[in-house]
Amino acid sequence: MSLTRREMTAGLSALAALGLAAPLMSGKAKAATLQRAGWLAPLGQNTRELGPAPLRLEGRLPDQLRGTLYRNGPGLFERQGASKGNILDGDGIVQALRFENGRVIHTSRFVQTEKLIEEESAGRFLYPTWTTKSPAGFLRNVGGQGFKTQAGITVYEVNGRLMALDEVSPPYELDPVTLETRGTVPHGMNEDTAIKAHTKIDPETGDWILVGGKFGRAMELQASIHHKDGRVTALPRFTAPRQTYLHDFFATRNYIVFSLQPAFLKLVPFLSGTRSFADSLEWNRAEGNVLVIVPKDGGAVRYLDVPGRWMWHAANAYEDRGTLVADFIGYDAPDHFLKESSAFQAIMRGELGEANEPGRIYRYVIDLADGTAREELIADAAFEFPVINPADALRQHRTVFTSRGSGNRIFHSGVAAIDTATGQTRSYEFGDMNWISEPIFAPAPGNSGGARSEEQGWLVVQGLNGETGTSFFAVLNAAHIEDGPIAIAHLEGPLPFSFHGFWQPA
Ligand SMILES: [Fe+2]
Repeated sequence: MSLTRREMTAGLSALAALGLAAPLMSGKAKAATLQRAGWLAPLGQNTRELGPAPLRLEGRLPDQLRGTLYRNGPGLFERQGASKGNILDGDGIVQALRFENGRVIHTSRFVQTEKLIEEESAGRFLYPTWTTKSPAGFLRNVGGQGFKTQAGITVYEVNGRLMALDEVSPPYELDPVTLETRGTVPHGMNEDTAIKAHTKIDPETGDWILVGGKFGRAMELQASIHHKDGRVTALPRFTAPRQTYLHDFFATRNYIVFSLQPAFLKLVPFLSGTRSFADSLEWNRAEGNVLVIVPKDGGAVRYLDVPGRWMWHAANAYEDRGTLVADFIGYDAPDHFLKESSAFQAIMRGELGEANEPGRIYRYVIDLADGTAREELIADAAFEFPVINPADALRQHRTVFTSRGSGNRIFHSGVAAIDTATGQTRSYEFGDMNWISEPIFAPAPGNSGGARSEEQGWLVVQGLNGETGTSFFAVLNAAHIEDGPIAIAHLEGPLPFSFHGFWQPA
């Protein structure tokens, strides 16, 4: 079990009270804390392009597991001694793991964005990014306009096209086999709208749903629907009642739902260039969240108040007899992200940092007739990176798969499967000194979702083994995750923090 610094201090204090810990204190405890942070350090360090090459395999891959796992995340955090201040920030590197003939072939390539090409040729960082100001002169940070996409958060294959996104427009398209960058793709909204990295794919219609926003005197929100036949429907852009940061959203067959959390953007420090975008966010839980219900047919937008809750990720949403049901991971506060002492910033200095608030699984139940919304707690532990069987997206799901923290509440070390009807949780813990990312669901052939088949398939998770300093991809039977991995594909070195993945069946 990996402990946060506070938990470690609390544990040692308890031992000291019993007279047991006096000889162990200070020096060794400090060294142990640093060691615990140190093994996580590669998550925020530069990597290089790898492969295509087969990975060393432990165990046997299921014969029916055939397809490609794509993943995206930051891969370049530092140039010429200038480093990103937050582990969530860096130029995107996309990985492909091809599962074929009992082997796993691994490839990784940086997305050749305009920003990467320009900075590569300059040999230094030029542009501000969302958590870190540009080191190339004060003026670069003034006005909040100098951002360029790093395309380093999500990756989706949509109608045969592989897309890499972050929260600055536009998306980039890559070759699904070689991962060579092909160019940019229009997002279908007003041109000055910044896309969100998270999108939704409707498995029945093939619709690809994007959302985005524009900061200014007030925040404007918009959505676009990219249909399978190439048509694009842009929904009307509207003014939000507050100017806040959001990372993900909910979609059902007929609605798009934004959750405006009380993470308010302070315009003066941001526009004056004195603080980065992330450092200009101010959390005030007492203000609550505002749910914004947007009908896909362009009808009137509605607003509903719910308790204050930080949300990185939605699990799924669906319509059920006049209600919208929306599951997500929520925090009382983003203490792992927003302060200098937060875990996501401290890790860039080789320290563990703060992460005391766990991400619990919650559900919004929105009554469309009454115009009311309530929040329910589904499971109380430390969860993140919720995924479902993609065949159930926008439809009723029951199981949500997540990463799970056993001691550390943000750098997780296990995976979980939560029955959202009962809150019952099954999990597998990889053990102390392992970091585990988002589990990706790879459905078994013929799995079309629904109650009977929603767990028929496998989870593929990326991990970092802190003992060996090497990364791995573990395959678990999704219906029996508590049994642990059935196969593990090993890399020869560490990979950085990886956010999100996408499974494309062969
Ligand atoms: Fe995300």
